[in-house]
Amino acid sequence: MKYKIALLPGDGIGPEVVSAAVDVLKLAGEKFNVEFDFKEYLVGGVSYDKYGTPIKDDVLQACYDSNAVLLGAVGGTKWDNLQQNLKPEAALLKLRKSLGLYINIRPVKIYDALINASSLKEEVLKGTDLVILRELTGDVYFGEPRGMDENKGFNTMIYTKEEVVRIAEYAFKVAQKRSKKVHSVDKANVLEASQFWRKTVNEIHKKYTDIQLEHMYVDNAAMQLVRDPRQFDVVLTQNMFGDILSDIASMITGSLGMLPSASLGSKYAMYEPVHGSAPDIAGQEKANPLATISSVALMFAHSFQMNKASDIIEEAISRTLSDGYRTPDINQSGKSSVTTTKMKDQVIENFNTIYDEQALGVFTL
Ligand code: IPM
Ligand code: MG
Repeated sequence: MKYKIALLPGDGIGPEVVSAAVDVLKLAGEKFNVEFDFKEYLVGGVSYDKYGTPIKDDVLQACYDSNAVLLGAVGGTKWDNLQQNLKPEAALLKLRKSLGLYINIRPVKIYDALINASSLKEEVLKGTDLVILRELTGDVYFGEPRGMDENKGFNTMIYTKEEVVRIAEYAFKVAQKRSKKVHSVDKANVLEASQFWRKTVNEIHKKYTDIQLEHMYVDNAAMQLVRDPRQFDVVLTQNMFGDILSDIASMITGSLGMLPSASLGSKYAMYEPVHGSAPDIAGQEKANPLATISSVALMFAHSFQMNKASDIIEEAISRTLSDGYRTPDINQSGKSSVTTTKMKDQVIENFNTIYDEQALGVFTL
C-alpha cells in the first residue's frame, strides 16, 4: 500500500511537532508495510510572508490529491493585524471548508501518569474518556454576511438542515460504538440557529432509539466539563462552541499539548493537534509533540483502517508518560524536562518494544 500525505507544518512550533510525528508515521509504516509519499507545503503566516497569501491554490490542490493531510499549527502575533482573509487562520478555515471536513473529532482521554498535571483534582478526573464532535464547516465561522467597517463588525450564525443532520448522524453512530450517550450542546435559550440545531438533532435521534440524548446549554456544559467530566461520553456541538469547549476540555488532560484531532468529510481527511502555534517557544525544542503524534494514531485508524498501528502509537505515548518523560507544559515533577526530540525518540523506542511484544503475543491490543 502506498499513501500520499500532504504535510503542512505551518507556523511557530508547527514544523517541530510535525517532524516528530512524521518520524512516528514512517516507523509505523515500515512495521506495517505501508509506504508513504510525503510532500511538504507552506501554509499560514509563512506562506503569507513568501507569497502574500496564507494558502496557495496549488497547495489546496495537493491536499485534494493526497490520502491524508497532516497540519502543525498556524498563526502568530506577527500576522494579527492582517485582514481576515489574509490571516494565517484563513488557510486552516479554507482547508476545512474546501475539503468538506465537517466532522471534527477531539478525543479527551486521561493518561494516568498525567493526572497530576491538570489543575483539576484527581478524584474529579480519574476515568474521564470523552470525545468532542465539533461541527467544523458551518456556524458563525462561515456564515454570510460578515464584515467590518468603522462603526461595526458582524457575523452570521447559521445552520442549514443538511449541516446539522450529517454531524448528528455521525455522533449517534459514534455513540453506538461507545457508551450510547450523546450530549448535544447549544445555546437554544437565546439563538435561533441553536433552536434549529436542537430541533434537528431531536429529529435524527428518533432513528437511534438505543442512544440516550441530553441537550445542554453551552455555558452549563463549560461548567459541567470541569465539575464532573465523567458524565460525558460523546459531546456533539456547533463549530464555535466546540472550539471553546475543546480548549476547556484540554485542561482535563493537563495540557493543550496533549489533544489530537481528526477532521473528516465524505472524501478527505486532515489531522492536526488542537493546540496553536505557540510562537513564544518555537524553535526551542520545548514543544510537546504528543498531540501531533496522537493525531497520527487517529490517521491510521480513520484514514487507513489500521487500528493495530493506531493502538500501538497510543500505547507508546502512554508508556512514555508512565516512564516519567515530560516536556515543560506537562512537567509538575520538579525534575528536568525533556526536549521535543527526546520525547519523540522515547515514543519511537516504546513503539518498537510494543510492536515486538505484540508480535510475540506478550502484549495484546
Ligand atoms: C482550533 C483553532 C482554530 C479554530 C483557529 C486556529 C482558526 O482554535 O482548531 O480549535 O478556531 O477552529
Ligand atoms: Mg481552538
